[in-house]
Amino acid sequence: MPPLLRPAQYRPSQALTPPPSAAGGEPDRVSDPLPFPRPDSAVKTAVQDGEPVLGPTGRPMPVLPEPRPISIHGNARVIAMCNQKGGVGKTTTTINLGAALAEYGRKVLLVDFDPQGSLSVGLGLNPHEMDLSIYNLLMQRDVTLDDVIVKTNVPGMDLLPSNIDLSAAEVQLVQEVAREQTLQRVLAPALSDYDVILIDCQPSLGLLTVNALTAAHGVLVPLECEYFALRGVALLKTTIDKVQERLNPKLQIDGVLGTMYDGRTLHGREVMERLVQAWGDTVFHTVIRRTVKFSDSTVAGEPITSYASSSAGAEAYRQLAREVLARCLDG
Ligand SMILES: Nc1ncnc2c1ncn2[C@@H]1O[C@H](COP(=O)(O)OP(=O)(O)O)[C@@H](O)[C@H]1O
Ligand SMILES: [Mg+2]
Repeated sequence: MPPLLRPAQYRPSQALTPPPSAAGGEPDRVSDPLPFPRPDSAVKTAVQDGEPVLGPTGRPMPVLPEPRPISIHGNARVIAMCNQKGGVGKTTTTINLGAALAEYGRKVLLVDFDPQGSLSVGLGLNPHEMDLSIYNLLMQRDVTLDDVIVKTNVPGMDLLPSNIDLSAAEVQLVQEVAREQTLQRVLAPALSDYDVILIDCQPSLGLLTVNALTAAHGVLVPLECEYFALRGVALLKTTIDKVQERLNPKLQIDGVLGTMYDGRTLHGREVMERLVQAWGDTVFHTVIRRTVKFSDSTVAGEPITSYASSSAGAEAYRQLAREVLARCLDG
């Protein structure tokens, strides 16, 4: 296998024009490397027989604290699930991380930002019977968040649904002023109501995904633990860098999540090793193993945390929720 490029080596090209704010005589800014999440040294390591316990990523496994209950909600962190490859677990992670965070008492809003509407379907909605979708919220000034948000069967978790109409928005938005900030603008009123907003991106790096990255505080990158899955990551990192530099300076990479992991194969373990070589502590200690339970729960139209509550998959997403809370929400 050829060596992977380390993310620090990627440089955004100079091709894009700077945002309007930078045009007003501000000196050219050299982008800093993306701020990494809190270093693991701040976290206690699990120990067994005096030895640190190694997790599936080959690093010492931290003790992930049981999240503390909260009584006041709001000041949401917006996290975009982003990878331009399809079938890597973006939608599955959005549903199940969202449901696990809701189980821990957080108020969660899921945003279906893929015209395929898999997130909406995965939560039991019929795409043809939607009165209003995120398309109406983006394109019609008289439509409000409250008009479009629907409750899910998971207590504390709401959804902004989407369907194929959203593909028209991508075309229509091109002519809008501040087209990259449209999602940020329509989501702004929700920040004070929710603790976490998870955006399920479409598998491309087009205008919709740029909107999601502009609206987000953090990016979570699900990566299928297959060798070829690592290939597109350089381009994704360049896009994140560009958005950070030109549209959203606060954007961070909250973490890279290994999905569909099979620790029994050498291949799976090798890919994991490369992931950690390239991304270091940005890689979540939690990995999601391959199991058919995920497809089954999608067919059932509910998260795995309720469909198969005690399954390994449900437990993995609860662990991911604890890790996300410790890393970037409860800090
Ligand atoms: N850990 C996993 N193990 C097995 N199948 C999975 C896993 N995660 C997701 N899947 C399945 O893989 C397919 C693609 O996942 P999905 O979350 O829709 O990816 P994306 O949103 O990135 O396109 C779905 O059928 C889903 O049920
Ligand atoms: Mg999807």
